[in-house]
Amino acid sequence: MSKRLSERGAATRSVHAGELRQQEANAITTPVYQTSTFWFKNSQEVIDYQEGKTDREEYGRYGNPTWRAVERKLSELEGGEETVLFASGMCAATTTFFSMLPQNSHLIVTADCYRRTRQFIKEYLGRTGVKTTVIEPGDLDGFERAIRDDTVLFFTESPTNPYLRVTDVPAFVRVAHERDVKVIIDSTFATPVNHRALDEGADLVIHSATKYLGGHNDLLAGTITGARDQVEPIRKTLGVLGGIIDSHAAWLLLRGLKTLAIRMERHNSNGLALAEFLETHPKIRRVWYPGLESHPDYEVAIRSLHGFGGVVTFEIDTDLAGAIRFVDATRIPYQAPSLGGVESLIELPVTMSFWDYPPEERRSYGITDSLVRLACGIETADDLIADMDQALEEV
Ligand SMILES: Cc1ncc(COP(=O)(O)O)c(C=O)c1O
Repeated sequence: MSKRLSERGAATRSVHAGELRQQEANAITTPVYQTSTFWFKNSQEVIDYQEGKTDREEYGRYGNPTWRAVERKLSELEGGEETVLFASGMCAATTTFFSMLPQNSHLIVTADCYRRTRQFIKEYLGRTGVKTTVIEPGDLDGFERAIRDDTVLFFTESPTNPYLRVTDVPAFVRVAHERDVKVIIDSTFATPVNHRALDEGADLVIHSATKYLGGHNDLLAGTITGARDQVEPIRKTLGVLGGIIDSHAAWLLLRGLKTLAIRMERHNSNGLALAEFLETHPKIRRVWYPGLESHPDYEVAIRSLHGFGGVVTFEIDTDLAGAIRFVDATRIPYQAPSLGGVESLIELPVTMSFWDYPPEERRSYGITDSLVRLACGIETADDLIADMDQALEEV
């Protein structure tokens, strides 16, 4: 008997999941449905739709068949019932927080979550009376102490940026669920190929699909996946807030996802090769990569991740001027924010994301002047290593 798709390998699911076998004109690929609205033949069709008797599209802000294919593919890859697509990762996070957090409720987040997520929580969410407690990544005791009667959500990235801290999801879920708190994992750095957070008990998984899911540095998108009863209210909120993805971007994401598993194999092997090379280099003070024994979460990482990703963070034994000489001397990676695309990207967090921070605040996030984040693409590992080696001569 042939296997169900959900039992097949990640590469087979990346290619085939969510796709309708029978397309218009026997095409293999899903079309870009470039339409803002969908027509009804008569009033009876309208009424049947309003009464939930037919499953079809109505208006472009509520759905589009191109998005649906992406949503089905991601649900299959994450092992969740439902997925919703958004215009960006930030839109996925903000819509989800608005949808799930009642007025005056309580949220717990980790200290190192994405800068704009922190900004949204601080500057916007507070307006609805939501209170937030920030805990250090991996601090399970601190998490338990932070839970209050009005706590609704725990939100963390895993792995985090830039130190790639890996959350022990089953441990946090156990504590959270005892107190009726929902757990959302931002799995952007892991992807469903490297980590299946829903299988480990998380309630929802969120992604900046701009990164590995899209995979080609050519689109912005966000996603959330989980059980239907959790996801549907978020979909309804999206229909009101309106941060929907353009159908062409959805199509690019669908195309990118077909190679997700095979791309991740190369991102993972490049990340490990670069981390191992850098760890032995005399001009490198320290490397953070969850696949290295020296990483604080190595034990959690080998237990729950299937690969450690393409991002390697390291500190050069130099000052800001030396770090700038290094990064400017690299020839293969582009100096740019973001990660997860086929082209390698490199940045100094101090100049790219934290330049406008007062130095003490920057240091409180662990951002030093010679910290580098390398997001390995899918180029040949030896070429990336040789490039890092020649650039380090400039330090
Ligand atoms: C972990 C993480 N989550 C969310 C976001 C936001 O995603 P987007 O840029 O697609 O809005 C980012 C962006 O850098 C990110 O790194």
